[in-house]
Amino acid sequence: MVNKEINIKDSILKILFQASGETLSGVRLSEMLDISRVAVWKHISALKENGFGIESRPRGYVLLNPDDLLLPFCFGPGFENRIFHFQELESTMDQAKLLAKSNAPHQSVVIAENQTMGRGRLYRKWFSSRGGLWFTLILKPQIPPVLSYIYNFSASLCLSRTLNRLFDLDVKVKWPNDLLLEGQKLAGLLSEMETKGDMAEFINIGIGLNVNNMPRQYEPKAVSIKDILDKEVSRRLILETFLADFEEQTRIINCRHIIGLWKKQTSTIGSRVRIETFGEIFEGIAVDVDESGALIIRDRAGEIKTIIYGDCFHT
Ligand code: BTN
Repeated sequence: MVNKEINIKDSILKILFQASGETLSGVRLSEMLDISRVAVWKHISALKENGFGIESRPRGYVLLNPDDLLLPFCFGPGFENRIFHFQELESTMDQAKLLAKSNAPHQSVVIAENQTMGRGRLYRKWFSSRGGLWFTLILKPQIPPVLSYIYNFSASLCLSRTLNRLFDLDVKVKWPNDLLLEGQKLAGLLSEMETKGDMAEFINIGIGLNVNNMPRQYEPKAVSIKDILDKEVSRRLILETFLADFEEQTRIINCRHIIGLWKKQTSTIGSRVRIETFGEIFEGIAVDVDESGALIIRDRAGEIKTIIYGDCFHT
């Protein structure tokens, strides 16, 4: 019974999505789904309560913002079995871990409209209200764990490129994997990995991108695309474009090539930085990122330091 109800709700969304902004009457929907008009009304009310933008008009129902819908059937062929969409999760990282362990295919995507316990790097809370793009990519490449870092660099590179191409922006990457727009935090990446024997079992990359949300109320140094463009944009277009670019980029892994491209896209190299890492603080000028993804800085005494992990602040 519960599954049947979920299927009817999914079917209603699919029908409204395929109507491409056209209003569909309750009678038409009840005929298409073979249920009563009252049942249609009840399902639509429940969908609205769950956060779906459906408007009731005198002539029927219409889906608002179909371009922004992130349900599996909205994506192109080949995606239906690897998009996992949720209205609310504690964190897409936890759901992705469960799915990775229960045979979700390589390049699956776990999306939540809202996270109640979104998390960032170094155990920080990640505010994730509706309107943002909160997702975790499940990757199952046949590689040794030591190479996993390159997927993070590739993801931040591809996401920044996607946004710059789609919206003519100047998004930069900050070491190790933040995205900055006008010097403020636009997106963050968090990765988790498990190994089996000598190989990675899965690498999950969580991405939090401020799109149509207003992050400044929680994080004064954060920014969203809407803050800059003053209009809402399609999260699905961003995700589809990013996934295509990322899949192409990671088809054959060439660390030197990926790090080379990433370096062209970063605002860290050449900046004065403070790095907080494992109880130590380093300060200096960032001079390079090496092929293993480590940051090279020159400190005040002129000494060169190589830093493999940490929180980076441009000062
Ligand atoms: C950071 O900059 O600290 C990383 C932030 C990562 C946030 C994303 S949102 C989707 C995924 N789920 C989470 O709980 N965190 C990541």
